[in-house]
Amino acid sequence: FSVLLLNGPNLNLLGQREPDVYGYETLVDVVNNCQQLAKQQNFELDAFQSNHEGALVDRIHQAMGNVDFIVINPGAFTHTSVALRDALLGVNIPFIEVHISNVHSREPFRHHSYLADKAVGVVCGLGTMGYQFALQAAFQRLQD
Ligand code: DQA
Repeated sequence: FSVLLLNGPNLNLLGQREPDVYGYETLVDVVNNCQQLAKQQNFELDAFQSNHEGALVDRIHQAMGNVDFIVINPGAFTHTSVALRDALLGVNIPFIEVHISNVHSREPFRHHSYLADKAVGVVCGLGTMGYQFALQAAFQRLQD
């Protein structure tokens, strides 16, 4: 099985960016930990980050036919992007939405997601561990 880990805008700054909200782990740390988990469980994991909405849409399109599951932290595009929603629906690949912070305890504009109602599930507020939980859930579902 093959899983795609997608990260949206500003997540390349993880570890430096508002560490009180997002913690001190970098995106490289996050991806390494996810790769380790994938190796343990015998899954293939591809990771991609972009600050550009269109690049994320293109990467989702490329996943069609060769990725079984997507784990995505869409960053701020969560709250703005009909295009990401349509891309995920278009390729018909199940996905889990991840947020490091608890978006529901933050500004009201972060309470709505354009993706969440189409996700298998949403993990939020559990820090970067949320990526691992999402991956574990994805692996479990693929095995069943
Ligand atoms: C985020 C939450 C979003 O509201 C924000 O725009 C981000 C990160 C999170 O992981 O908590 O960039 O997705």
